[in-house]
Amino acid sequence: MTHQTPRIRLDPRAAGELDADVVVVPAFEEDGFADVPGLAQAAGGEAVAAHDRGMFSGKPFELLVLGTQGAGWRAPRVALVGAGPAASCTTEVLRRVAITGALVARQQRLRRVALLMRPGTSVPVAEAVQAVAEGVTIANYDGASLKTADHDPVWITDAAVAGVAGGDALAAAVDRGVILGEATNQARELANEPGNRLTPRVFAERGAALASAAGLGVEILDETAIADLRMGLLLSIAQGSQEPPRLLVLRHEPAGAVSNITLGLVGKGITFDTGGISIKPADNMDKMKDDMSGGAAVIAAMAAIARLKLPVRCLGVVPMTENMPGGRAIKPGDVVTSAEGKTVEILNTDAEGRLVLGDALWYARKLGATHLVDLATLTGAVVVALGKTTTGLFGRPQAWVDAVLEASRRAGDRSWPMPIFDDYKELLKSEIADFTNTGGRPGGSITGALFIKEFAGELPWVHLDIAGTAWAEEAKPYQPKGATGVGVRTLVQLAMTAPAWSGAR
Ligand code: BES
Ligand code: MN
Ligand code: ZN
Repeated sequence: MTHQTPRIRLDPRAAGELDADVVVVPAFEEDGFADVPGLAQAAGGEAVAAHDRGMFSGKPFELLVLGTQGAGWRAPRVALVGAGPAASCTTEVLRRVAITGALVARQQRLRRVALLMRPGTSVPVAEAVQAVAEGVTIANYDGASLKTADHDPVWITDAAVAGVAGGDALAAAVDRGVILGEATNQARELANEPGNRLTPRVFAERGAALASAAGLGVEILDETAIADLRMGLLLSIAQGSQEPPRLLVLRHEPAGAVSNITLGLVGKGITFDTGGISIKPADNMDKMKDDMSGGAAVIAAMAAIARLKLPVRCLGVVPMTENMPGGRAIKPGDVVTSAEGKTVEILNTDAEGRLVLGDALWYARKLGATHLVDLATLTGAVVVALGKTTTGLFGRPQAWVDAVLEASRRAGDRSWPMPIFDDYKELLKSEIADFTNTGGRPGGSITGALFIKEFAGELPWVHLDIAGTAWAEEAKPYQPKGATGVGVRTLVQLAMTAPAWSGAR
């Protein structure tokens, strides 16, 4: 098992009354804890003394776990988690504080946590409650579930979001947080799965199972159906592998949906990327098992959208294949024809993501999408441009770009706008076909985006290059190593704000 959903409830009581194994308290810089009775006295005054000795200053995600003797609390321990200056504390900081505190509780084999909400920040309370519920759920994830020995993870069973009154609005915020946290974990589970265990056929089956459990319409197109649609780009990548491709189509069609719009979500689903005949070097090639993170995010987001019963039509399309150097594999110089009829000269078989996305975007349009977002671990170049913590965002028109940017900001999935000036298209010029599939190293993430744009027709379209953000190389207090689930919450947030962007065309 890779993750478990904790029972999360609201608890209006003060810190001292909470019945938990540990109380997690966000600690601000310059914090005297005046609003947390007893805390200053806990463990012989350590919370304040540690600050005076410079051991704990409340910088973001610093940690100090103390016994509560002297404080007169019911809970035996308190975990202070740095949250920076109260004035600049954001929803994202609170989500990360919750993850940090909950991960520490699990490390210390504590199953019941309370997370204290404190006054003094400008974060609206419902947003804060949702973020904390997300955080605790996201922390209840185990990346080492394939170990059969010396591995005995502890799960958080109960979490209280404390110090806030109840009420329907806050209860709904908890539910949203749990659903979004669960969806993030589902995407992480799929992306962490090794390539031998998650072939295209298995990916489709597991995606379909998640989707039907959430109440989505599901269709799996097999290699014959894909060939009938003449998806020459997807088939060209699949032909190098013994494993047949799949195309997963998910539909959310609620009664009373916002009229005239259908959000089309498309995710890259390469279950393993060797590079094909343009084969990758051996170092770090194992990481290419996560090359379906975009597809996993689309599946998990669609499931959350259905669970939340969001009143907007959504369509998910995920092309699934391996990229292998088999005897029938495409070769550099080959020309292939997309379902839409455009011809592509393949100069590098490792630029496979844009190919499978091309046919998938065309299909999303054919099925009636009015607004498109694609998510893909597309280029190493975006990692050079933006590093490992920021997703590259490309698209048009500006109103649609702004809507997706705002959704990503609200979701705590940081992304940043990149240009798609027409000049770069020259880099994709082919002598013999409509265009090539790579523009070389300069502006590599931009030419990747411009290739995909060719298949978005006239629709509003945004491309999120998550090659840097889908996988955490280094553990942080708030982020274990491995798949991050980036993009899931952005897509759901976008669906939540549908009426606001319905005019973005
Ligand atoms: N899946 C890779 C991109 C990638 C690289 C993701 C590193 C995560 C980390 C993609 O299919 C790829 O190989 N892209 C090539 C494109 C190039 C050949 C134009 C790349 O970035 O080198
Ligand atoms: Mn590749
Ligand atoms: Zn790839």
